[in-house]
Amino acid sequence: MEYRCTECQSSYSRWSGQCPRCGLWNTLVETSPTSMRGHNSVASATSARYSPHKLQEEIHTHTLDQITTIPRAQYSTGSSEFDRCLGGGLVLGSVLLLSGEPGIGKSTLLLQTAGKMTIDGTPVRCLYISAEESLQQQSLRATRLAIPNNTLFFSQEKNIARIESGIISTKAQLVIIDSIQAMRHELGTSSFMSDSPISLLRNITALAREWAETHHCAIILAAHVTKEGSIAGPKFVEHMVDTIVQFDKSYHEYRFISVRKNRFGSSNEIAIFKMSSTGLLDITEAEQNFVKTSATTWAVGTCICAYYEGTRSFLIEIQALTVSAYNANKVFSDVVDTRKIFRIAAVLEKCLAIPFSQQNIYINTSGSMYIRDSGADLSIALALLSAYKNKALTQMTCAVGEISLSGMIRNIEHMPARYRQCSNFGIPRIIVPQDTTELAPKSSSTIKVKKISHIRDIAALLE
Ligand code: TYD
Ligand code: MG
Repeated sequence: MEYRCTECQSSYSRWSGQCPRCGLWNTLVETSPTSMRGHNSVASATSARYSPHKLQEEIHTHTLDQITTIPRAQYSTGSSEFDRCLGGGLVLGSVLLLSGEPGIGKSTLLLQTAGKMTIDGTPVRCLYISAEESLQQQSLRATRLAIPNNTLFFSQEKNIARIESGIISTKAQLVIIDSIQAMRHELGTSSFMSDSPISLLRNITALAREWAETHHCAIILAAHVTKEGSIAGPKFVEHMVDTIVQFDKSYHEYRFISVRKNRFGSSNEIAIFKMSSTGLLDITEAEQNFVKTSATTWAVGTCICAYYEGTRSFLIEIQALTVSAYNANKVFSDVVDTRKIFRIAAVLEKCLAIPFSQQNIYINTSGSMYIRDSGADLSIALALLSAYKNKALTQMTCAVGEISLSGMIRNIEHMPARYRQCSNFGIPRIIVPQDTTELAPKSSSTIKVKKISHIRDIAALLE
């Protein structure tokens, strides 16, 4: 006799209460070895079943015109930033995973969203499962966020199997589970982190999927990630949800939400918020200037970049510092990938004969914005050169362009949006790649546009 786990299909010669492989309890069932061997053998099972005639009977196929689609209702979250990020708002019948480091503001955003959705626009009924915090803590947070008493229901239930009854009794159209790490399944004895993380997480997400469809509600699952940003457990359920949004590294008071997957909109959007004493505030396009310097305070080692991420451009100030290295040189930056900085410094060393390999390099950005866009290469190079020469760029300058290993300045995308930001904030000079075909908008006739084709040309910008 053999025993088989109904969850992970592992087989054992002895019965035990808990499956040693997946960690779930009471899942081992008795099976006869012969039937299991037959079951296990993919080849024999396939050959036994394979018959073209039989397949036609079993599989139902449809052409596109035979598929009826029901338009999905989308509801505003009450935040223009969050809405844009989600492709218009929350979709009923969908599951969204919101991940982020502990303390970054997930519960704040969720309670704020729940509060606004139960009042603004077309009000929805909401069930907030507060598995981590007491109802008193939620009440205090609600007071801070000025959320009135309305159709927002709270529960501290931690057993995922009992949540469905709450969805039915409250007729909730928005269900928030905060957080999935604090939930357990009725078969488990403790929270999943100490039990069987992956199985439990999958169970929770599968149930959420099912309820979203059956009860036609939007479900948001909050998930903690490690300090390094890896969604250790939640990674295993990413394929089971419709949307994944991640609270990015928070620097100062800014919070960024980036979309990693979205079945209902673009997947490279970002939303920017500011954490205030009354919750998260939207940072609108008109406020997206992170440059703190001005023409009068323009300093050594500084260059502005018209950065592009998601569908928007905003201005960031790149700051560089270089000092002699006594041993092997190092690059210090938590806002730019250090490999990118090493690469730009190496190109500068090769093309302009500046010994960056003997310098320690520090790179920072205003507002500590994280840099991913390769269009920022040129502004990093200019800031580095200015820092090394201890000489400021002759005037307040924005630079955009990708640097190739040969030192060529490559063309970049989204130039109109970048020009527009420079024009909005009165930047007097912009350095762009030679091949740029887009012209600066007429409204920005005061901007001096200088085109360069090679990194060698940047030395002249300091003289
Ligand atoms: P929280 O939303 O609980 O983070 P998470 O759920 O991701 O763990 O809290 C985020 C932080 O924001 C917390 O340190 C308190 C702070 N905060 C404010 O600054 N203003 C506010 O209005 C609220 C509600 C929280
Ligand atoms: Mg929380």
